[in-house]
Amino acid sequence: MISTADARIDLDALRRMKAQGRPFAMLTAYDYPTAAAAQAAGVHALLIGDSLACVVLGRDNTRGAPFELMLALAEAVRRGAPRAYFVGDMPYERMVAGADAVVDAAGRFRDEAGCDAVKIEVAPEHDDLVLRLTRAGIETIAHLGLRPQTVTTPDGYRAQARDPASICALVDHARRMVDAGAAMLLLEAVPGEASRAVVDAVEAPVIGCGAGPACDGHVVVTHDLLGISAGRPPRFVPVLANLRETTEHAMRTYVADVAARRYPAAEHVYGMRKAP
Ligand code: KIV
Repeated sequence: MISTADARIDLDALRRMKAQGRPFAMLTAYDYPTAAAAQAAGVHALLIGDSLACVVLGRDNTRGAPFELMLALAEAVRRGAPRAYFVGDMPYERMVAGADAVVDAAGRFRDEAGCDAVKIEVAPEHDDLVLRLTRAGIETIAHLGLRPQTVTTPDGYRAQARDPASICALVDHARRMVDAGAAMLLLEAVPGEASRAVVDAVEAPVIGCGAGPACDGHVVVTHDLLGISAGRPPRFVPVLANLRETTEHAMRTYVADVAARRYPAAEHVYGMRKAP
């Protein structure tokens, strides 16, 4: 059994899990304590996602994720989870700056933050970019299906590849990315039939984000899983806690305790040093 509690998880370990038919669990992490909790819980892989723009910064879409901020937080995530497979997400700001900027940012995710891989949202013309990253020795995850960096309005988040022709195009795109060197694929918001077709077409592990049970691993946004996101999470997210309520309850209690002078109580106050 591979768990983050013992060995460091690398690409080979994830490939072995795929070969053994054992799905791996991946979550987003944007800070040290979340990463440490994920590692303690046995989460196999972590992603510092550009979803940080919405989840942490409260922006409307993922385009506003600043690379330098992601890099600084990625270092913190790596400190919290030294054994998980760790992926840096290429933000929009770098994608639009061109291939040199992407390769430079990928190298910094690896060298400065200890990322094992980078993920990029790939358009059909991104074969060359994946090839360049691969030649630079960077493990690359090609993100297909719904690509949030293309979405700028709330109603733009829609499932993709929902008819046979679109599934064929998706499979073709997936094959080309793997041929260009992608170490893994990530499929977001596609039907089970589409992910099944991709998994059958490529050898590389396929991570699903709302992509059905055929995938080799699954990722969701941690804040959605924990019930602390501001908005309503997508339907594919298992909401396993209600931290929003827990947090609000604790904060209301604190406000009330301060107002009623119950806080600080005797146990919260420093005493004077005893006279010698
Ligand atoms: O940015 C992100 O968090 C992601 C995943 C949820 C796949 O890209």
